[in-house]
Amino acid sequence: MKSLNIGVLTSGGDSPGMNAAIRAIVRAGISYGHQMYAIYNGYRGLVSGQIEKVDRGFVSQIINKGGTILRSARLPEFIDVNIREEGVKQLKKFGINALVVIGGDGTYRGAKDLSDMGINCIGLPGTIDNDIACTDYTIGFDTCLNTIVNAVDKLRDTTFSHQRCSIIEVMGNRAGDLAIYAGLACGAELTISGDNFMPLQEMIERLKFQKATSKNHAMVIVSEKLFDLQELARFIQQQTGFEVRTEVLGRIQRGGSPSAFDRILASRMGEYAVQCLNEGKTSRCIGVRGQQLVDFDIYEALAMQRAKHTGIVNVIDRLK
Ligand code: F6P
Repeated sequence: MKSLNIGVLTSGGDSPGMNAAIRAIVRAGISYGHQMYAIYNGYRGLVSGQIEKVDRGFVSQIINKGGTILRSARLPEFIDVNIREEGVKQLKKFGINALVVIGGDGTYRGAKDLSDMGINCIGLPGTIDNDIACTDYTIGFDTCLNTIVNAVDKLRDTTFSHQRCSIIEVMGNRAGDLAIYAGLACGAELTISGDNFMPLQEMIERLKFQKATSKNHAMVIVSEKLFDLQELARFIQQQTGFEVRTEVLGRIQRGGSPSAFDRILASRMGEYAVQCLNEGKTSRCIGVRGQQLVDFDIYEALAMQRAKHTGIVNVIDRLK
């Protein structure tokens, strides 16, 4: 097996478990005899040469830490081939012949564009959004989901006491997984996401039904980027008579110590990424299907369509 110089970076919105993934990649790489390089601040740091060689001590005591020790950034300009050329020059300068990127869909698009320029990139899905089609779960989704569930449980206490309706907006970019899974886990009275959308009038009917029957309060979980929350709150208050409060959970959802599930997923995927490189594979995206780790060609992975969570949506509907 040829010894490689492997660079690692995290990019896009950070997610809990990224550190566990960095640790696994660095430790596995070193144990197979490769040289490991940390690249700071995502593609921005790649382009400006924020790169250093690291040893196994570099990743000590980080498996339980949220965020990313490599820091992260968004670099829309990376779409420009001239900017990417700068990154390629830096990789050549440090003799890096393989790059492992941890991030979401934007990070994957950057990796594909680098692959087009002859750079061997391996992608690990690190995002709270769970919006990468080639994997059942992304690193950070489980921790984030638990943060949301925790917050909604607390909000339900006060919503119940004051007999109100709480509208809680959760992240997910354009994917509704966080909303749907949290809706089921919290027994929300209404869950609205792109995959589980319903007309305003149906929302009102359902809430009126809640009010008229067993419940004197209601928890409504909505995906971000779907509604003007204040307008929605005014409309629900006017139409149902519920006193309505809104909560945007925001970036608190991205922080915190990763769950055991995310640490294990990240560690397995990180080690698997290095195994792919050992086997001479190039430009792959790592995922998990059931219990099985899988890898796909990066072009194939990016062309995949996300599965709709009809199973979860059907259960939510049956239990309404
Ligand atoms: O992709 C992760 C994510 O948290 C999305 O859920 C959200 O829409 C976005 O990032 C917010 O990004 P930023 O913190 O850069 O505003």
